Amino acid sequence: MQDIHSKRVLDPGYYTDTLVLEQERYSIFAKGWASVGLASTVKPGCARPTQLAGSPILLTRTRDGSLHVFHNICAHRGLQLVAEPCEKQRQLTCPYHAWSYDLSGELKGAPYLTGKKASSIPEGAEKSVGLQPIRHAVWFDVVFVNLTEDAPSFSDWIAPLDDQLNPFGSPRLHLISATNYTIEANWKLVCENFLDTYHVPFVHNQAGGPETAINFTDLELSSDIFGFTLPRGDADKKKPEWLFRLPLPPELEHAQFFFYLFPNTLVAITGGWFQVISVQPDRADQSSEILGLYAMDNLTERKPEAAQEFSTIMNRINQQDVEILPLLQAGRRSSAGGKNALAPFWDKTIERFLSRLEKAFLEFPGPSTAHGKKSP
Ligand code: FES
Ligand SMILES: [Fe+2]
Repeated sequence: MQDIHSKRVLDPGYYTDTLVLEQERYSIFAKGWASVGLASTVKPGCARPTQLAGSPILLTRTRDGSLHVFHNICAHRGLQLVAEPCEKQRQLTCPYHAWSYDLSGELKGAPYLTGKKASSIPEGAEKSVGLQPIRHAVWFDVVFVNLTEDAPSFSDWIAPLDDQLNPFGSPRLHLISATNYTIEANWKLVCENFLDTYHVPFVHNQAGGPETAINFTDLELSSDIFGFTLPRGDADKKKPEWLFRLPLPPELEHAQFFFYLFPNTLVAITGGWFQVISVQPDRADQSSEILGLYAMDNLTERKPEAAQEFSTIMNRINQQDVEILPLLQAGRRSSAGGKNALAPFWDKTIERFLSRLEKAFLEFPGPSTAHGKKSP
């Protein structure tokens, strides 16, 4: 019986309880390096609202090309400043009392602030009263943020993955498509599903048979970065002649790498393409995600119809997950939920994920705790 029913899973309440999600906002999303968007979707002059587990975040790019990340709240009464993505902006104006900011976050106008002149900002207030910046980094095209002062630097945190991806060099990725999804499932199920190699031949039979999935190699790069590789994941697939492929050593030529970056970033990379999913909790039983798909050369310009076809194929695969995930969520409402168990051969990476959650809950017990719930 060693092969089945040997590992317990989380109490179903961890996937349905709003109090658990509140604790996760504090213990997990507010502590780690979490992804919030894709840098190349923010053009110069653009402001793009996003979120970190419900906390409003704003991405902007000034005309000199610099990316900025702010808390998306007005410095005056804390109103959410930007509700919809906008382009060709020089200034952002708050809809409440019309304070305005440039895209680097400086306060530029505050009408009648001192009760005298139409636009009178006290000296020095431009910077001190501007938008609040957030510590951030861009890796490949993914924008990561961290809300703490004491977390390790991004480059130290990502170093084990950079080392692993050394043979890929630093390819210039070209965005093919960025697609938003709403998923009727807890954010943790989205992550677990990504780490579930076992489902691939059954849910995505176009992506390879059981023989490909069985030959996975488990990879634990750090306590925050783990996943698996399929050394010959690409071997049996017809490589479209239009897809540029990086020159890689022969042992990596057909490899596909899948990495989970705690807490909310899911990365897949091969010699020909790069995919990232950034997942965010909306509610305990709903998540949203953005799926970014990239080619290693400018496929969209070189062969637009091929880029479109490639995006359709990859989004179809993602849609298959979007359809299976609500069933996983529905199972969490069963009175027998929590009595199911992991399969040791396949589910090592999911176990690792559950252990990482446990560590986070222990490390940062949080202001609100999941009353009456067992520790994971
Ligand atoms: S809340 Fe934005 S200007 Fe007052
Ligand atoms: Fe899947």
